[in-house]
Amino acid sequence: MSTPDALHTADDVNALARALYGERAPLDRRGVIHVTALYAERDGALHTLRIGPHAPKSVYDFFALQLTRARADAIVITGQILRDEPELQYALPEALAAWRARHGHVGGPKLLVLTSGNALDLTHPALHGEWASPVIFTGTEAATRLRPNASCTVVGHPEPSMAAAIAWLREEGARTIAIESGPSTTRPLYESGSVDQLVLSIFRGPVADEARGPRLFANEAEVWQRLGTGTPPVVRDEGGGTWSFQIVPGV
Ligand SMILES: NC(=O)c1ccc[n+]([C@@H]2O[C@H](COP(=O)([O-])OP(=O)(O)OC[C@H]3O[C@@H](n4cnc5c(N)ncnc54)[C@H](OP(=O)(O)O)[C@@H]3O)[C@@H](O)[C@H]2O)c1
Repeated sequence: MSTPDALHTADDVNALARALYGERAPLDRRGVIHVTALYAERDGALHTLRIGPHAPKSVYDFFALQLTRARADAIVITGQILRDEPELQYALPEALAAWRARHGHVGGPKLLVLTSGNALDLTHPALHGEWASPVIFTGTEAATRLRPNASCTVVGHPEPSMAAAIAWLREEGARTIAIESGPSTTRPLYESGSVDQLVLSIFRGPVADEARGPRLFANEAEVWQRLGTGTPPVVRDEGGGTWSFQIVPGV
């Protein structure tokens, strides 16, 4: 398997994607795609890895995230993510951009930020990138307050939520919507059966207390029970433990 830092062409991207997810990986499937990195407790419970310097790192997990971004008409994050990652920026390396173009995308995706607007830094670099077009999705009053100082589109909704954000993106024509947000906003999507695909990376190994986030699924058995069987997991040794990668069809 080639490494993500040695990708030069769209064919290289395709080869690595197939190595991680199999020849029949459903990469053309449209809909709501949740991409996430979890860690497995010894008892099998699956928790979110808190983003930050203490989280175990995997270049293949980062590739999984970038590959999902490359598939997206729209990416959904939250105000919490902007606070957790003050330097977060959206851009694709050349090979992934070529792979995206080969799959029919012209230009970058929308980057929707779901937020109450109460603690939003309008100077955050993700709100000023060139590839993804930011949209702040918030309540009606907050939108009125933020609009004069924002350099991007601000949408005010009477009842903002993840479901409302997805509905708005669909009305805007987005067919593949990548959800990168945390468990508090993604859990309800599983409860309402709104996830079409889960791009899942699972870390097994020691996890610092600072990197331990909230539970997303009770355990792996719950994932298979709710979502069905995914692509066979591909396991890599990295970051002081093992990572497994797979795509699960969704509910
Ligand atoms: N490993 C992974 O794949 C991954 C992915 C994402 C996040 N995480 C981690 O997950 C941890 C916890 O994340 P979380 O679940 O608390 O965060 P989250 O779901 O990403 O975001 C929660 C935030 O979403 C916004 N929000 C939620 N509902 C809203 C509504 N109805 N209207 C307007 N805004 C709304 C609010 O932003 P405002 O506060 O701006 O109002 C709220 O603070 C974080 O530590 C993060 O590092 C991990």
